[in-house]
Amino acid sequence: HFVKWLNGNVMELFDRLWENYISLNPEAKRIHDLFIEEGEKIVNDHIAFRTLDDPKIDIDILAKPFIEMGYVPKGNYYFKDKKLIAKHYEIEGDELSPRIFISKLELSKFSTFLQNTVISLIEKIPSDITNDEPLILKGNLWGKPSYETYNRLRQESEYAAWLYVYGFCPNHFTISVNFLKKFPEIVQVNEFVKSKGFLINSSGGEIKGSPADLLEQSSTMASLQEIEFIEGRYIIPSTYYEFAKRYLDSNGHIYGGFVEKSADKIFESTDYYQK
Ligand code: NI
Repeated sequence: HFVKWLNGNVMELFDRLWENYISLNPEAKRIHDLFIEEGEKIVNDHIAFRTLDDPKIDIDILAKPFIEMGYVPKGNYYFKDKKLIAKHYEIEGDELSPRIFISKLELSKFSTFLQNTVISLIEKIPSDITNDEPLILKGNLWGKPSYETYNRLRQESEYAAWLYVYGFCPNHFTISVNFLKKFPEIVQVNEFVKSKGFLINSSGGEIKGSPADLLEQSSTMASLQEIEFIEGRYIIPSTYYEFAKRYLDSNGHIYGGFVEKSADKIFESTDYYQK
């Protein structure tokens, strides 16, 4: 599998996604480097992306570059309260390639205001958008956001408000705790990260899931970034870093899926907050 990673475009796409991610979240790079300084090897459990349920920018369009490199669709997920649908993709049997988790908002379940706002954004996306490079590297395709619109969207969906500002980019990377030597338990990871001054999302408890769910997860609160809005510059949450520990299923294989009740709370890592 290392050959695949070191050859050609696969490495380049993941490098570019990482560069894109840490440009919005320099704290993630610091956390990554802190684990490296402890002698750890960082394996990425999954990368997540967000979109809307419109054919122009559907989950399949975001997944395209991964499908081309051999990823296959695996799990389907539904988040009723947040009105989200998600899919995950993986390269079967390759534990060094990150899983890809892509979610989308079910527009028809929201107010006319939210639907009209979002439809006007989608209309600004050129139809040949993915001809030059993958959609997942494009960011915000509809121009400078309005702080007023951001706040109105937030009242209905923090997810929609986040997407309105940031567009198509990694929402989070995830450190695989299974590969850590000095921090074999998620609680140790959380304590280490907190001891370095970072905040852990405590919605639903700091650790989501249990060994019985075959997956335990935690995440930082999204990094706070100053964003240029039409009305001026405001500090809002950007992206977060996640930590995941997977357990063996009854067949003795590492569980590769996601747990809806845990992911539901992890989504809240980008909810608006102030320090
Ligand atoms: Ni995640």
